Amino acid sequence: MLLLIWLLCSFSSPPSSLCCAQKEIYAKEGQDITLEPTSYPAQSYVYWYFERQDGHQLAWLNPLGGKGFSNDEKWTNRLSLTGASLVIKNLQKDLFGTFVCKISAGGRDSITVFKVIQVNVIEKPASPLLSGDYLSLTCSLGSVPQNTPEIYWLSPRGNREGNKGTVYIPARSEHHGKWDCVVKINGKEKKFPVSVTVVDLAPVPSHQYTSTDSPLTIPCSLIPGVTWEQVKNKEIEEVQWHFAPKLSSGTFSDQPKQLFSLDLEKLTWKKVQDNDKGLSPVYNIKKGNLSLTKSKATVGDRGRYTCSMKFKNDRTLKTTVDVVVLEIITHPKTIIYGQQVNLSCSTGEQLPNDMKLNWTLPKTSSPYILYPTHITVPEVGKGDNGKWGCELLQGGNKLTSVEILLKIEPRLSVWMLVIICSAAVILLLLLVLAFIHYRRRKQKKRLHRHRLCQCKNPKPKGFYRT
Ligand SMILES: *[C@@H]1O[C@H](CO)[C@@H](O)[C@H](O)[C@H]1NC(C)=O
Ligand SMILES: *[C@@H]1O[C@H](CO)[C@@H](O)[C@H](O)[C@H]1NC(C)=O
Ligand SMILES: *[C@@H]1O[C@H](CO)[C@@H](O)[C@H](O)[C@H]1NC(C)=O
Repeated sequence: MLLLIWLLCSFSSPPSSLCCAQKEIYAKEGQDITLEPTSYPAQSYVYWYFERQDGHQLAWLNPLGGKGFSNDEKWTNRLSLTGASLVIKNLQKDLFGTFVCKISAGGRDSITVFKVIQVNVIEKPASPLLSGDYLSLTCSLGSVPQNTPEIYWLSPRGNREGNKGTVYIPARSEHHGKWDCVVKINGKEKKFPVSVTVVDLAPVPSHQYTSTDSPLTIPCSLIPGVTWEQVKNKEIEEVQWHFAPKLSSGTFSDQPKQLFSLDLEKLTWKKVQDNDKGLSPVYNIKKGNLSLTKSKATVGDRGRYTCSMKFKNDRTLKTTVDVVVLEIITHPKTIIYGQQVNLSCSTGEQLPNDMKLNWTLPKTSSPYILYPTHITVPEVGKGDNGKWGCELLQGGNKLTSVEILLKIEPRLSVWMLVIICSAAVILLLLLVLAFIHYRRRKQKKRLHRHRLCQCKNPKPKGFYRT
C-alpha cells in the first residue's frame, strides 16, 4: 500500500529539472508571434511575465474576462490576448527573450516557459543584383537554443543551397525570387523568406524551330518581375539584337550584323536599315519583352540571333537563339505530268541523331518510297496534285512542320501542240488573207487605169489614114 502511494506520488510530480513546459519559438525582427500555453483550464487566472517568473508582468486575465497589460513604453500597442495566448506584434530586437506564462486554477499553478529566439536573415549586398554579382545570404540565431536546430537555405527552385546557413554564389537568373531560410528542429520546419532580385535576361531555348510556312518568334526578355527602373539603376549602356547567318559550312558568320538597338529613353527599338530582315519587335517592351517576330519565316532567317544588354564596366548579359527553318524543295521547280520529281525536306544541315522527318502525302497519291529526307516520284500523275507535308520530330514531339501545294503543269505534248498548231494556222490564214487583199488591190488599180484612158482621152472611133 505504501509502495503504491509512493509510486503514484513520484509519477504525478515532475522532476525538479523539468519544472514546467518549455517551448522554443523562432522569429524574425518585425514579425508577429503568438505564445500559446499548453493548457488553459476554465476558471483560471492567467499571468504573463517577461524574462523570468515574477519578472516584468506583461499581461493578466481573470476568470471574469478582466484583463490588463504592461504600461511600459516598449510594450505599448504591441500586446494582446487571445484566450490565454499572448500575441506580440512587430517584434523588436530588445523584445526577444524568455516569456513565462503562469496559469492558476483551483489552487494549482501551471507554468509554460517560452524562449523566443531571434533569427537573423541578411542579404548582402541588398537587391537588386546584376547577374554575376555575388549573392551573399546568411541566416543565424540571435541566442543559443537548448537543442541546436538545423539551418539551411532553399533557393527559389527549392534546392538546398549553401553551408550552415550561409550562401555565397554568383547571382544568375535562376536565383531571382523567394529564398527561404529553414530552421528545422525535431522534424519541424519554420521558413524565413527573403526576396532576391537579379537583373538578368530570362533563359531561352537554344534553338527555335520553324518552317517556310510558319511564323518566327525569337525570344528575349527580362526576368519577370525585373523592371526597367532596376535595369537603369545598374547603369545600362545599350541593348541590341545581332544576327549571324548560317554559312554553308554549318558554322555561323563571325561577323554578326546588328539588327536593332534600343532607345533607352523611349524604350523603342531602332532598326538598322541596311540589315532589315522583315523582323519586328513585339509591343510590350515596357514590360521587358524584347522578342522579335515575323509572320512567315524564310530560309534567309537561318542563323544565330543574339540579344544583349551592355552595362557599365563592359559587363554584358546575353541570350542566343539558333533559328532552324524547315523547307521542302522540289526538283525541278515547275512540274509537268509524267516527269520524274524529287522532293526533299531539309533544315539546310544534317539532322542530329535524335531528330527525324515524317512525310505526309496527298491522299490520292501513290505509296512512294519515303526516304528519311527525300521522295522520288518516278512519274508524277494527277493523284500527286495536292499538299505534301513534312514534320520535324524529336523524340516523338513535333518541332515544326511545312506543307507545299504541288501544282502539276499539263503535259507539253498535248497543250503546247494545240497552241502551236492554232498559232500556225492563224498565221497562215492571215498570210493568205494579206496576199488575197494585195492581189485584189493590184487588180483594181490596173482596171482603173484602163477606164481612165477610155474616158479622159477619148480616142476617135475608127481609124484615120493620113
Ligand atoms: C513576348 O512576346 C511574344 C510575342 O507576342 C510572346 O510570344 C512571348 O510569350 C512574350 N514573352 C514573354 C516573356 O512575355
Ligand atoms: C532525283 O534523284 C535521283 C537520285 O536521288 C536522281 O538520280 C535523279 O536524277 C533526280 N531527278 C531529278 C528530276 O532531279
Ligand atoms: C507521321 O505522320 C503521320 C500522318 O500525319 C502520322 O499518322 C504518324 O503518327 C507520324 N509519325 C510519327 C512518328 O509521328
